[in-house]
Formats: sequence, structure tokens, C-alpha cells
Amino acid sequence: FDVSWDATSAEKGGWPSFMAKEVAEEPDAVANTIRGRVRDGAVVIPELDGSDDLFRGVDRIIITACGTASYAGMVGKYALEQWARVPVDVELAHEFRYRDPVIGENTLVVSISQSGETMDTLMAVKYARERGARTLSICNTQGATIPRESDAVVYTHAGPEVAVASTKAFVAQITALLLLGLHAGRVRGTLSAADGAAAVAELDALPAKIAEVLAEEQAHVTQLAGWMADTRSVLFLGRHVGYPIALEGALKLKEISYIHAEGFAAGELKHGPIALIEPGQPVFVLVPSPRHSALLHAKVVSNIQEIRARGARVIVIAEEGDAAVLPFADEVIRIPLAGALFEPLLAVVPLQIFAMALATAKGLDVDQPRNLAKSVTVE
Ligand code: G6P
Repeated sequence: FDVSWDATSAEKGGWPSFMAKEVAEEPDAVANTIRGRVRDGAVVIPELDGSDDLFRGVDRIIITACGTASYAGMVGKYALEQWARVPVDVELAHEFRYRDPVIGENTLVVSISQSGETMDTLMAVKYARERGARTLSICNTQGATIPRESDAVVYTHAGPEVAVASTKAFVAQITALLLLGLHAGRVRGTLSAADGAAAVAELDALPAKIAEVLAEEQAHVTQLAGWMADTRSVLFLGRHVGYPIALEGALKLKEISYIHAEGFAAGELKHGPIALIEPGQPVFVLVPSPRHSALLHAKVVSNIQEIRARGARVIVIAEEGDAAVLPFADEVIRIPLAGALFEPLLAVVPLQIFAMALATAKGLDVDQPRNLAKSVTVE
């Protein structure tokens, strides 16, 4: 009679992996990141009290990060541009500082890092400061090096993330960027109180909606991954804020399932990726809500028809009630209705589950993928 028990399985709290536990913690990661940052229906980030000068007079924002954090940054670009009306570029930290970027005192460099120790991101922050830029970091680790090197910090409150592949930290990073966009929009006077209040209501509803995706789709997506355990390649298409989520879906799959995976902007389909479509090729398509843009929705549905006509196996992620996708989809994964900028927090969840379930179906170590480190502290 053998009772296997060790400290690690105790820490997993009954979950088969840290990653499974961390995905289940996503509603809390989002709720904890929002907590204490809403006052009278508006986003007010207490850590940025007295730092209004960070945002006033800024004529350009550069978001810099590596890996999953850079995809959170791509979502953040849409939010900051919409609410704070500043042009935003997203740059991989290791690309940013090896050219001669045009930055100065009116540039705000926002770095994003779960660990706060990624060497390339840290060096980008130092470089930005030397060039006179204002710096703000979004970080999940209290007192880490990157926040210490920045003028200001907004912490994500996802709790410690153990699995190498980032999940709950990613949704917390997007949440922090949404908060930052709303805070900066208020400070700069570019966001109306009504739009701010509507966004706060969307934020508050997110944890329950993420929990709903987990409850409704976990078994379905896990089953799907089981059927696809022998798949050699998976493609992901997205548009607008769905594009970075397509990239993140592909990255998760590469990281832990060792399957070739690529994310594309759906509008690029005709410019190359469609050549990859052959009968049986699995393609995830993130469909934007028709309530936000009938035009974008129609364009993505037409992409689905194009790949389906060439034999792709189409797995659609679409909001509840969107019936336009049904005739062309092999599988439909549903997410609850949400505002356009809030959808990524729901759409990414099935992709994380899919990667995890596929890795599990292949018998791989979900938490400790080969060749990867949780935090890359060398260049
Ligand atoms: C490593 C991890 C990734 C992470 C990236 C950035 O590559 O394996 O999961 O996204 O570093 O890490 P950071 O701590 O800066 O967010």
C-alpha cells in the first residue's frame, strides 16, 4: 500500500498540474487586479496618485515585453489608443533597444513582465530611462527588478505563477492594461465619465464570465484536444484584438505541446497563410462580435468560408447567439457577450485549455516544458 504524497502535489491543491490550477484561478486573478482601483464608477489606480504627469503631454507610448506579455501589450495598444488617444507601438524588448528608437521626455515606455526579471525587458527599461523617457511597468512580482527600475508600477495581482507557460498572469496583464487605459484616459480628459463607467461595468462582469467559459467549455475543449492528439500543425486566425489572442493561442501550443502552430491576422489570409490550408488542417478562428462591428464580423465569417472550402477543419470561438458561424464550423466554442476590448479575456481561455489538454493527451509535462524557463534572466 503506497500513499504518494509530496509537497508539490499538495501545492497543486488537487489539480493535475500547476497550469490547470492557474487557469482555474483566472477569475480571481482578474478580480484581484481590479480590486481597489475603482472609485465612484471611475478607474483610479492608487499607485499612480500624484503621477498624472506620466500621462499628460505624452505624445507616444511604447509597450515593451517578451513572449506572452508582449501579446497582452498588443491588446493594451487598442485600449490605450481608444481611451487615452495616444499613439501606441508594441515592441519586443530585445528588438527595441538594438536599434535607434525615437524616444524622449514625451515618450512613455510601458514594460510588462510577470516575473519582473526578464533580462531583455529590464535592459529595455534602463535604455528608455537613459534616453529620458518616462517609464511605467506592469508586473506580477512585488519588488522585482523591473518595477524598481521604473518611474511607476502597476502590479497585477494574479498570485504566484508556477507553470512555465503563462496563463493567469496573461489575463491579469490585459486587465491591468485596460485599467491603465481607463486611468490615463481620465487623467488626459479623453475619456467621458459615461464611457469610463460603462467600461468599469464590463470589468466588474469579467470574473464571472471567465468562470462561465471554464464551466461551459472545459469538457468540450478537452475532448476536442483528445481527438487531435496526433495533429502536427494548428493555425489560429484573429482580427483586431483577436489577432494577439491568435498569436497567444499558437504560442501556448508550441510551448507545451511541441506542435507547430502559427497565429495570423485574419486579413492576411489571402497574402500567404491560405496556401497552408489542405484538407483536415485544423484552424481556430476567433470571431469578433457582430454587435461591435458587423463589417469585421462579416469579413471573418468570409475568411471561415474560404478556408472551409479548402477543407480546413474549422474550430470557431464566437459569442453566444452568433448563428452566422454555424454553417461553416466543425466545432463552435462559445464565449459570453462582452465589450469589444474585453473579449480577449474570454477568448483566450479555451485556447489555454486546448494547449493544456493536448499536451496532457500526448503525455507531456504541462508545467515544465522542455527547453523553456519560467523567467529568462540572461540575454
Ligand atoms: C519566458 C516564459 C514565458 C513568458 C516570458 C516573459 O519565456 O516562459 O511564459 O511569457 O518569459 O516573461 P515575463 O516574466 O517577463 O512576463
